[in-house]
Amino acid sequence: MSFFLPENVECNGERFVVYISKKQIEERLILLGEQLDKEFKGKKPIFIGVLNGAFIFLADLMRYVSIPCEVDFMKLSSYGDEKVSSGQVTQLKEIDAKLKDRHVILVEDIIDTGLSMKYMVERMKNFEPASVSVVTLLHKKEATLHDVQIDYVGFEIPTKFVLGYGLDYAQEGRNLAQIYVLDDSSVV
Ligand code: IMP
Ligand code: MG
Repeated sequence: MSFFLPENVECNGERFVVYISKKQIEERLILLGEQLDKEFKGKKPIFIGVLNGAFIFLADLMRYVSIPCEVDFMKLSSYGDEKVSSGQVTQLKEIDAKLKDRHVILVEDIIDTGLSMKYMVERMKNFEPASVSVVTLLHKKEATLHDVQIDYVGFEIPTKFVLGYGLDYAQEGRNLAQIYVLDDSSVV
């Protein structure tokens, strides 16, 4: 069976249309992989994925990286089941790896207000890493309120709710192989 690639989908009773295709994602990951290879050559970085949303992006991104690297995860929650951020960050799982003197690459699915990433970057300071870099697949630039470090961005997107490729709406839709946007025209 091949990937499920519908043009539009319904999730929790709302309609979403394809916004960033599988091909576009793949093309962007090739370039991000090349960039990371260059910048972290000889450094054996450790990717820290932010669960749950970043799991698919991180799994794919790592396979476009050819230098030696490691991976671990932390888990945050800020959205609950809504389409707008709760404005609070809760840490649900701690990182297990030792990060002292390591080159850490934080991996997010999306930076919206920037609150979660700001929290993560602050947290990293406690572990005394050699460096901290941030890679996000998506960035809602106009929605970002917090002054947050972002080193690598897959796609800048407008302030619209998106779904798929790891991103959820009330936990559904993470399995979609491409990125979908809420179809405003379907709202009555
Ligand atoms: P921030 O803390 O406001 O930057 O929000 C970041 C987190 O909110 C991300 O890691 C996502 O889990 C979630 N999020 C933000 N925008 C969206 C979206 O459009 N769709 C699904 N999840 C989102
Ligand atoms: Mg997330």
